[in-house]
Amino acid sequence: MITEDQIKNALRGVKYPGFSRDIVSFGLVKEISARENAVSVSLQLTSGSPEVAAEIKSGCERALNVLPGITHLHVEVKMPAGPQAAAAQNPWQSQNRVPGIKRVVAVASGKGGVGKSTTSVNLACALSHLGARVGLLDCDIYGPSIPLMMGIRVKPTVSADETKMVPPVNHGVKLMSMGFLVEGDSPVIWRGPMIMKTIQQFVTAVEWGELDYLVVDLPPGTGDAQLSLCQTVPLDGGVIVTTPQEASLGVVRKGISMFEKVNVPILGIVENMSYFTTPNGERLEIFGHGGGRQEAERQEIPFLGEVPLFTEIRVAGDAGVPIVVSAPDSPAGQAFLGVARMVMGALT
Ligand SMILES: Nc1ncnc2c1ncn2[C@@H]1O[C@H](COP(=O)(O)OP(=O)(O)OP(=O)(O)O)[C@@H](O)[C@H]1O
Ligand SMILES: [Mg+2]
Repeated sequence: MITEDQIKNALRGVKYPGFSRDIVSFGLVKEISARENAVSVSLQLTSGSPEVAAEIKSGCERALNVLPGITHLHVEVKMPAGPQAAAAQNPWQSQNRVPGIKRVVAVASGKGGVGKSTTSVNLACALSHLGARVGLLDCDIYGPSIPLMMGIRVKPTVSADETKMVPPVNHGVKLMSMGFLVEGDSPVIWRGPMIMKTIQQFVTAVEWGELDYLVVDLPPGTGDAQLSLCQTVPLDGGVIVTTPQEASLGVVRKGISMFEKVNVPILGIVENMSYFTTPNGERLEIFGHGGGRQEAERQEIPFLGEVPLFTEIRVAGDAGVPIVVSAPDSPAGQAFLGVARMVMGALT
């Protein structure tokens, strides 16, 4: 008996015509049913070309016909009705891409303190180190720590025509942070709609210039607040940060389902605080090890790398010089550069 999961997996092999992304990650597959040997799949397109619909239909049929045991196969590809039908063929169209910004990558974690901001900062600096033009958007309203980690003590300025905010730059990365909007340690009491509006402005009313990547540090957790942020910014991919012990607790699964709800492809998992190397070179696995990799395999998503627990990472963060910049050849620096390479590879 064939399962719906097997069908979905087979459909992941069908690319949207002209794109490197597959039809499942675009969220086009609306219904899958498998009864006995009869399989029926229903897709809803967001753009209106009959050629694209026909190509996707035959792609699905080819992908499913190779599965064993299917005797009846029905693939239905629905076209949008009304004025939408005339829209161009880009399935991203409805997400309002930001002019000048090629790719937007979000970094999420199931809970706080796992090193999400450390990962965002080092990923941004690593992408820049590899030659990309990079921006970093700190959406953590609860504890914006990124300006400190980036060694940025100045606030954004206003453009000559006074229409946009100009983000400060350090280590080759342009930064916009909620932290710029609050004074000192005063706690921020933001209400939902206000946060959304501010974040939207961070994307549209900031003079980012031409960027290859905008890295977005989401607040910790995978609840409604994080979900609405994912809908506020047009994301091309999501990275999930976990510690080894947290990985097995279903927290990663929650991160995955958050990104799936908004049709954001998951680029993979980073395991932080993975292991500790003593001064004598002995490797200690304090929190257990390999949880991230195992969970990635279980969930069939890429594993992006393991970052060691390394005092230097914290020290570098506190000093405002991320480890990728201060010690790119260290194991931690190399781990973050590896993550950056995989993100680049996934989003070409
Ligand atoms: N691999 C590591 N080795 C040593 N220290 C680390 C490592 N990763 C993070 N840290 C330190 O742990 C602390 C928490 O990290 P970070 O602020 O990046 O976590 P976070 O998930 O963003 O937390 P929050 O939920 O508060 O936003 C920081 O002091 C950071 O320097
Ligand atoms: Mg943080």
